[in-house]
Amino acid sequence: MIGALSALVAYFGDLLDRKRADPADDLLSALLAVVDEGDRLSGDELTGMALLLLVAGHETTANLIGNAVHLLCGRPELRDRMAGDPALIPALVEEVLRLESPAATSTYRVTTRPITLGDTTIPAGEQVLVSLLAVNRDPARFPDPDTLDAARDDGGHLAFGHGIHFCLGAPLARLEARIALTRLLARHPGIDLAVPPENLRRRTGLLMHGLESLPVRLSPGPAL
Ligand code: HEM
Repeated sequence: MIGALSALVAYFGDLLDRKRADPADDLLSALLAVVDEGDRLSGDELTGMALLLLVAGHETTANLIGNAVHLLCGRPELRDRMAGDPALIPALVEEVLRLESPAATSTYRVTTRPITLGDTTIPAGEQVLVSLLAVNRDPARFPDPDTLDAARDDGGHLAFGHGIHFCLGAPLARLEARIALTRLLARHPGIDLAVPPENLRRRTGLLMHGLESLPVRLSPGPAL
């Protein structure tokens, strides 16, 4: 793990050097050029930002797409409906975000004063993690919360967090998932699991909610 992280930091250091020498029309070149009140981002800050964007932006969206494909494989009639009418896919993406939120929890918060939730009081100065999976299945907020309802249209899920730290990449993630599912179903409308569902393993980490792997059988689709 540490070795992989060092390799990634070295990779970004090298990439940033190349962008510094030969800027292009891309995000890293733009970050290199940022000047705020005469101050520039340091090398460490630039590498940290690149790492944040890669990690926050990649695993989350990969799990969103994986969770969506998993749900579709388990519901062939829904899969066929989505393949037949891609205009329904944006609403499906929102429902997958709610039901199988790729970020299982928020990042850590610290209470600045005692907070009472139900019959529990959390003292000041405690670390708190909000379970996004739990709030997104709150029966007081979502009728029949454990059911996938692709036409559910009441918004308000917290899969991208809330408030000042609301996900910076939410529009990008939504776009990526919509495009990926639309293209996948156009090419392989009959996509299905290649293993029995009971063989699938969920990831065990605290933060990410998704599968270890999702073997699928690709149906032949129309020639592109
Ligand atoms: C399905 C995909 C994604 C999910 C579920 C997701 C989820 C979240 C959540 C829950 C937060 C808030 C964490 C908290 O308040 O503790 C967050 C913040 C953030 N996300 Fe995402 N994210 C996704 C995709 C992306 C993408 C594509 C990017 C960037 C390219 C990104 C960049 C960020 C950044 C930079 C923050 C921190 C914002 C801040 O603290 O002000 N995310 N994300």
